[in-house]
Amino acid sequence: MDSLTGKKIVLGVTGGIAAYKAVEIASRLRKAGAEVHVVMTREATEFVTELTFREITRQPVSVDMWAKVTNFNVEHIALATLADYVLIAPATANIIAKTAAGIADDMLTTTVLATKAPLIMAPAMNTNMYENPVTQKNIAELKSRGVQIIEPASGALACGTSGKGRLPEPAEIVQYVMDFAAGEQRLKGRKIIVTAGGTVEPLDPVRYLGNRSTGKMGYAIAAEAAKQGAEVLLVSGPSNLPVPTGVQTVRIQTAREMQAAVQAAYAEADAVIMSAAVADYRPKTVAAEKIKKSEDELVLHLERNPDILYGLGQTKAQQILVGFAAETCNVEEYAKKKLVKKNLDFIVANDVSASDAGFAVDNNRVQLYFRDGRTERYPLMAKADLAKVILEKLAALLP
Ligand code: CTP
Repeated sequence: MDSLTGKKIVLGVTGGIAAYKAVEIASRLRKAGAEVHVVMTREATEFVTELTFREITRQPVSVDMWAKVTNFNVEHIALATLADYVLIAPATANIIAKTAAGIADDMLTTTVLATKAPLIMAPAMNTNMYENPVTQKNIAELKSRGVQIIEPASGALACGTSGKGRLPEPAEIVQYVMDFAAGEQRLKGRKIIVTAGGTVEPLDPVRYLGNRSTGKMGYAIAAEAAKQGAEVLLVSGPSNLPVPTGVQTVRIQTAREMQAAVQAAYAEADAVIMSAAVADYRPKTVAAEKIKKSEDELVLHLERNPDILYGLGQTKAQQILVGFAAETCNVEEYAKKKLVKKNLDFIVANDVSASDAGFAVDNNRVQLYFRDGRTERYPLMAKADLAKVILEKLAALLP
């Protein structure tokens, strides 16, 4: 059976020279079993005609918001609702910027803003436009919201230069959509606990000991796991990030509160991903009143917090356990020791001394060490992409 059988795909076509390739994309999507509804921007119609798409898809093609009404559904809302997936290929820098900003000023952008369907975009443009920091910022923003971005290819561009920015081949784009559709429900019915952010340990009513974790990695994992159909419990330290759609969230402050929340759901869980930065120590006593300054020196007495993950490893049954190791040196050695000591299935290790990866940034560069001795190294990538990698590895280990 074709893997897109019965799926309704809204194919957005924007005005780049690669718009002609969208004809083949529409045709291949149809051959894969999808019902394809094309929405073109005005600019796209300068490159390829509506008629071509109508013939290929056997469906009406939308361009104009104000065209004569043929039925009583508001058209952009109807398309937004019927779509199982929205694919924009090629996606110009302009549509990327508008989508990132939430602008809705034509049929395609209104459809995109109104839909709840997963959005997949295939950027194609001149290399300089692609590499422009504002385009990169917009792409990062879209990725953090769960938009799928198909990396452009490198090579000769229509404008006479060469570099990154080419639309990948239609077959590759359609394959991406098929893989996405297949992966979407990979974790259906699975119960996954994700911890995120840092724990904070109070010293007195106004002060605490904390760390630099912002929760970005854990929130990205929780969002992606929910998208793949899992029932997700996110146990989060203080974080300013919005709770991802479809994720149950418990907010905690201290390591012991995090432990209690995780333990309460552990027996039923299929997996635990401990991406939180848990404080290893807490102040021995918490002052009831604000500590006043008196001496030149203040000595804090700290006591050990429980090692949550170690505890889970000790009582592990069916659960797959994934740990993180944030190190500033000897990454491999320390990460492998933690993998064994905490009885994990794999550990995600990174060097947090690098300024472009790790805490409080959108990217991470990691190595994965598996229980069976395998090692996988990854280049610098968006945390949203890394979340997909981690969940793909996890899914492969689930019984
Ligand atoms: N972890 C935990 N409970 C703790 C400390 C860490 O569950 N009290 C988890 C983290 O969420 C992470 C893994 O254990 O998934 C490794 O955390 P890390 O801070 O790198 O290691 P520690 O075990 O604390 O060792 P050290 O601080 O000595 O590096």
